Amino acid sequence: MTTTINIQQKVQVVNEDLSKLVVDLKNANGFNPGFKDSFDANEVPVHTRNRLTKYGIDLSKGYPERPGNIPHFLDEGYAIRDTPNPNYVERGKNADPEKKALFAAVKEIRQLTPQVGTELVGIQLEKLNEKQLDELALLIAERVVVVIRNQDLSPQKQLAIGKYYGEVEVHPLVAHVPGYPGITTVWSKFNRGGPLISYQKGIHNGWHQDMDHERSPAGITHLHLDSVPEVGGDTGFASGYAAYDKLSKTLQEFLEKRTALHRSAHSYLKRDNVLAAPEPIVREHPLVITHPATGWKSLFVNRAHTFKIVGLEDSESAVLLEYLFSVYERNLDVQTRVTWQPTEPGLGTSVLWDNRISQHIAIPDYNDSKGKLRHANRVTSLSTPLKFDPESKSQREALGLDK
Ligand SMILES: [Fe+2]
Repeated sequence: MTTTINIQQKVQVVNEDLSKLVVDLKNANGFNPGFKDSFDANEVPVHTRNRLTKYGIDLSKGYPERPGNIPHFLDEGYAIRDTPNPNYVERGKNADPEKKALFAAVKEIRQLTPQVGTELVGIQLEKLNEKQLDELALLIAERVVVVIRNQDLSPQKQLAIGKYYGEVEVHPLVAHVPGYPGITTVWSKFNRGGPLISYQKGIHNGWHQDMDHERSPAGITHLHLDSVPEVGGDTGFASGYAAYDKLSKTLQEFLEKRTALHRSAHSYLKRDNVLAAPEPIVREHPLVITHPATGWKSLFVNRAHTFKIVGLEDSESAVLLEYLFSVYERNLDVQTRVTWQPTEPGLGTSVLWDNRISQHIAIPDYNDSKGKLRHANRVTSLSTPLKFDPESKSQREALGLDK
C-alpha cells in the first residue's frame, strides 16, 4: 500500500517537472503570451504610434501583443485550420476583366516590369467598394504584386479588406496589434529582438512563401508600412507564372503530375516525447498549381520550406528542387523589387501580393537603429487547398506572348 502511494507521488512529481519543462522551452523561444515581451508605447516608431492611436488602438499595456493561448505541441499545430473554409470566395473570379470601376478611380497605372508588378497611383484603399476590391483581386492575380502609396489606412480597414478576401490568418505564435489578432506586426526591433543595423556577410537568401504549411495557404497578403526607412528595406517579389514558363515542356509535364512537401517556419514539441527535437508541421501541395481566377499555371516551391518532391529519391529530389529554386531566384526577369518610398510624411505604403503564385524576400540592408524605423502590419487572407487543372494554360500561352 505504502509502495503504491510512493509510486503515485513519484509520477506526479515527474508530471510536474515535465509541465515546467514545457513552460521553460516556451520561454526560451521568447513566446510569452500577452504583453510580456512587448515594448513601451514610446519606443514604437512615431508614425506607427500616430496611426495606431489615431484609429483608437490601446497602446497603454505595450506593443505588440502576443496571442493569449500559444500552442506547444505538434498535434495542436496540425489542428489549426485543418479543414478548408467552406465560405471562401475567389474574389478575382467575380471581377470585370477590364477592371473599369477600379481603373476609373486611379490617376495612373505603372507597370513595374513586363512580367510582374503594378503600381496604382491616386487611390485610397479605405475608399474602395466591393466591386473595386474584386477588380483589385484580379489585378493582383494577374500581376502578382500591386503597390499603392500615400495611404491613410486604419488597421480596422486593413483587417476588413483581408476578411473580404478570405479567412484572415491568426498566427498562433506571432505578435499582433493589441486587440486585433489578425493584424501581424513586422518590426525588426521586436521580431529580431533588436534593431537591424549590420550589413550581413555571406549569402543572404531569404526567398520564401508565407504559410505554405497550411492546408489552405496564404492567398492575398497585404503588408502596410506605416514607418518607412529613408532608404533600403525593399522587398523582392518573383512570379510563379513566369518561373513555370521558364521550364521546358518535358519538365513542365513531369512536374504537373507531382506534389511536394512543405514545412512550417516554426517547430512544435512532440506530445509523447517532449525531450525530442521539436518538429515542424508538414503539408503536401501540387508542384504546379492553377490560379482559380486567371486559370494560369504557376510553380509552387520555395527554398525556405519545400524540402521533398514526393515519389523521388531524396538525392533526386534535392537536385531537382535546387534547380527549381534557382529558376525563381536567378532569373531577374521573373522578379521585381518594391521600394517602399516615396510616400508622403504621415502616410503609408501598401503592397498586396498573391502568395500562391509568387515568392518574396525582405532585403536586410537598412539601419533600423536610428532615423525612420521600418514597421509594418500584415494581414494575410488564407485561400483554399491548391489545385492543378490539367486543362489550364501557362500565362504566356494564355496571353499569346510566344507568338
Ligand atoms: Fe514573408
